[in-house]
Amino acid sequence: MRFTLIAVVAGLGGLLFGYDTGVISGALLFIRHVFHLDATMQGVVVAIALAAAAVGAAFAGVLSDRFGRRIVLLVTALIFVAGALVSAVAWSVPILLTGRVLVGGAIGVASMVTPLYLSEIAPPDKRGAVVTINQFYITLGIVLSYGVGYLLSHGTEGWRWMLGLGALPGIVLFIGMLTLPESPPWLAGKGRDDDATKALRYLRAGTDVTAAVAELKRDAATHRQHTTPWATLFASKARRPLIIGIGLAIFQQVTGINTVIYFAPTIFQKAGLPSASAAILATAGVGLVNVIMTLIAMRLLDVVGRRRLLLTGLTGMLVTLIVLAGGFMAGLHGGLAWVTVASVAAYVAFFAIGLGPVFWLLIAEIFPLAVRGRGMSLATIANWSFNMLVSITFLDLVHGFGRGPTFLIYAAMTLATLIFTWFLVPETKGRSLEDIEAALDGEAALTA
Ligand code: GLC
Repeated sequence: MRFTLIAVVAGLGGLLFGYDTGVISGALLFIRHVFHLDATMQGVVVAIALAAAAVGAAFAGVLSDRFGRRIVLLVTALIFVAGALVSAVAWSVPILLTGRVLVGGAIGVASMVTPLYLSEIAPPDKRGAVVTINQFYITLGIVLSYGVGYLLSHGTEGWRWMLGLGALPGIVLFIGMLTLPESPPWLAGKGRDDDATKALRYLRAGTDVTAAVAELKRDAATHRQHTTPWATLFASKARRPLIIGIGLAIFQQVTGINTVIYFAPTIFQKAGLPSASAAILATAGVGLVNVIMTLIAMRLLDVVGRRRLLLTGLTGMLVTLIVLAGGFMAGLHGGLAWVTVASVAAYVAFFAIGLGPVFWLLIAEIFPLAVRGRGMSLATIANWSFNMLVSITFLDLVHGFGRGPTFLIYAAMTLATLIFTWFLVPETKGRSLEDIEAALDGEAALTA
């Protein structure tokens, strides 16, 4: 029970990730009138948060390796609150952009440190489910942002509430983190063995932690011999995790998920749904599918394994993207427009049981402790950078090539991801982080 509470609090960073990235498209409809923004400036308001997230992720690794995961999450929670409030009261464009930069930076940090912290406090046999709490919260935050956007879409000042409401989970995250312990592996890595043991006892209340403590100490002792973490990262020991982490980071975005998350109502309207409210309803449905399938993934990751779910999800995404592209090219309209909605929903469902959660889980598992923060940082920077790239090019691609060919590009990327996964991505189910590290270090493949 205590553990569930801990995980629920620690995962709130994910809620803010989902909410704050999802809410802007709705808020923008009003902001653009209030501040007389042209198309370019609207793009800037959206993209600046994604760029700030990449920068936040760049600092998150070094900071969380040096000061600890907990302190970094505490400070991040405060930045979330500040950013939400500044955005909500913004009386000019520069102030609004300042708020967006603060929120974006905080999202970037939280997107990396939350899965990292969760992976380090979780028992190995439940790590898949525990780390995926983060992704579950992200999807929940997205749906909430759709709901709030819909409810506050009357009047001209609703957008202030849309942006300001993000302060609430930030406050809860701050208060919650005050009561939570630091990550045991991080403490052991700093030579604070007693604190590490205490934290583990707290986290695994009622169970014997002797073996887990011994393993932590052994792992930490090996790492204290390394004094140059960046060098370690690029040395052969971490090269394979780096290729997998950065590769999946890029693939998770270039297969197109956020074109749906950010532009679903537009896609559905263009596909011929009869009204704006039908498009909004369809979007809400797709958001819910995302949440439900993520919950199912949480149950399956530690049973079926990461690799098999990833391969299944990717195959499904490939098929549905091709159907979607075909539907657009055939110009389906009227009742058949729902074929588009159904294939978007199926595409999101397959993303949610595979590439969505598995990327964030794997990058928290595959890096050696000594460079875990920095390795995850690089992967997370890549993820946010490509998120931005795909988001700002989507409408232009549609304009230039048409919707069908645009989604065929995402299909081709999905095929590339399948091949990459098949040859490179290991199975990490049920192994301790220390064990994964040892296996990836040697030549032994984990793909069995
Ligand atoms: C993953 C992606 C994120 C996306 C979300 C959708 O967390 O990293 O970019 O918005 O899934 O569920």
